[in-house]
Amino acid sequence: MTEGKKEIKRIGVFTSGGDAPGMNAAIRAVVRAANFYDLHVYGIHRGYEGMIDGEIKRLETIDTANIIQRGGTILKTARSMRFMSPEGRKMAYDNLIENDIDALVAIGGNGTFTGAQVFLNEYGIPTIGLPGTIDNDLYGTDYTIGFDTAVNTAVQAVDKIRDTADSHNRLFLIEVMGRHSGYIALHTAIGSGASTFLIPEQATSIDGLVDKIKKALKRKKLFGLVIIAEGNHIGETMDISKMLEERTTDYDVKVTIIGHLQRGGSPSAYDRMLASRLGHQAVVALMEGKYNVMAGVVNDQVVFTDFEQAIKNKKEPTQDLIKMAEILGM
Ligand code: F6P
Repeated sequence: MTEGKKEIKRIGVFTSGGDAPGMNAAIRAVVRAANFYDLHVYGIHRGYEGMIDGEIKRLETIDTANIIQRGGTILKTARSMRFMSPEGRKMAYDNLIENDIDALVAIGGNGTFTGAQVFLNEYGIPTIGLPGTIDNDLYGTDYTIGFDTAVNTAVQAVDKIRDTADSHNRLFLIEVMGRHSGYIALHTAIGSGASTFLIPEQATSIDGLVDKIKKALKRKKLFGLVIIAEGNHIGETMDISKMLEERTTDYDVKVTIIGHLQRGGSPSAYDRMLASRLGHQAVVALMEGKYNVMAGVVNDQVVFTDFEQAIKNKKEPTQDLIKMAEILGM
């Protein structure tokens, strides 16, 4: 963590990368906490893209009314290629200076913090990161803002699929998001009582999956729910479905890809709570002269992790949890 007293008067806040339910609650907390401490907040639209294009507007408390319950992000978001170049970052810096912004709160995931760190090293604008991604793949926090809502959405979807799977005695392959992380898949599998799951954190082959399905049949299981993380070891869910059909005729196999449904919707109470705590603490930390860190919650305490560590270290579900999920799915 970098610490240094520099009086902060104007904070720029932005959301970047994939949107996540609870981002609005985080923006609201930053604005309201900052206003309480007599700081001004500027909303930067479309993440780094808007920083480069100068899409910066003052955010008052009233602008954050009626947003805590809304999914998406009122500031919009983007994945910026231009910010990867020194020219893009120079334009972004010039726009911040023009608006007298002396600190930033970046709400996003790994890519967002990678950009923030490069920018900070070049231009030294104190920045605090808030973990906003449905993937829950950030080291330095037990949960990321949006994960809980995404898992709840996925579990509700699987509950519905379960009804039709049961009625027709079918095997459903249900793909969830998560990029390289299996958190959404694992928690969805546990929460929906799925038969099995494929996650990147566990090496699996198609034969291993067939084996599990055959064992389930021996236990007189008449239908099956397999939760597949998009980053699994075997491949695309449609291809897995074809491979299964070639290897077993025991079940009628169907595929559901839940996709971007998981990114939208009203944030859960947990995500609103997490976003509120972290947004408030980001402002307090900046006032205390802390920066170059991501704020997270570990064991119910707000902690700060250096961007470098948050980016570099991998966070994975424990083997105990994976084993438990397997046992309970049998
Ligand atoms: O990082 C969030 C996430 O939803 C991942 O789970 C997924 O792999 C990716 O973003 C999808 O990105 P896009 O919305 O750009 O297609």
